[in-house]
Amino acid sequence: MVDRAGTLVRDAFEQPTSNVETKSSNTDLVTETDKAVEELLIRGLSKEFPDHKFIGEESVSGGQKVELTDAPTWIIDPIDGTTNFVHRIPLIGICVGLAIKKQLRAGIVYNPITRELFSAQKGKGAFKNGFPIHVSKTEACSNAVVVTQIGSIRTPEMMNSFVQSFNSVIGDKQAHAHRAFGSAAINMVYVAQGSIDAYVEYGLHCWDIAAAAMILKEAGKPFNLMGRTVLCAGTPSLAKELSSALTHVEMETEGDA
Ligand code: IPD
Repeated sequence: MVDRAGTLVRDAFEQPTSNVETKSSNTDLVTETDKAVEELLIRGLSKEFPDHKFIGEESVSGGQKVELTDAPTWIIDPIDGTTNFVHRIPLIGICVGLAIKKQLRAGIVYNPITRELFSAQKGKGAFKNGFPIHVSKTEACSNAVVVTQIGSIRTPEMMNSFVQSFNSVIGDKQAHAHRAFGSAAINMVYVAQGSIDAYVEYGLHCWDIAAAAMILKEAGKPFNLMGRTVLCAGTPSLAKELSSALTHVEMETEGDA
């Protein structure tokens, strides 16, 4: 099913961009393809699992409540990195996560352009195209490639956090490099495969992170799915050092969780 969704996204990626709409603000984009992919995934999964529930980015934009209950729930972001998709930057992820009793059980992040399929199931490890992946062993910020990303929320508090944290981590601590790939899921699976050492972002939603969080969790990282913040790193010492260097933003928990 994710395969079929991938074909849909790849076909659209090869055509000129059309039908871009904005949602909560001018920096929050959606396309016909986002909606079509979410529909395809929900239709397919409902057929196989009629009792299961769904949290989908575009369904929530259409007015559905974010409700994570004990029921098996598929958490879907049809295209994580919609802005990349709109600008034809090939860093996007079709994200499908499964939570049961509010605990993540499985996750898939598929980049249909690069044909990289990241997957994990609880207790079975994390994989890219079938091969095991692992986080990096980097301990110190001064040896790390760090992703700090700002999403569509551009409040003064967010901007201040981003700029202060950038100065502190990249300037004061002299991290090896700064990157930002424009997709929370891609940022996270890159931590999972050890290409980058750490990633921080505030203001995310559960659909941006659920599938990739499962992949990271399989590397032993605890995760608050509804917390709207990601701070992940290959090692606990890097996470600790980074956390003390960041200007944090307090986020309210999503939904009723
Ligand atoms: C966005 C991406 C982006 C992040 C934003 C998210 P979307 O998700 O993950 O990297 O910075 O905060 O909203 O809208 O492309 O699914």
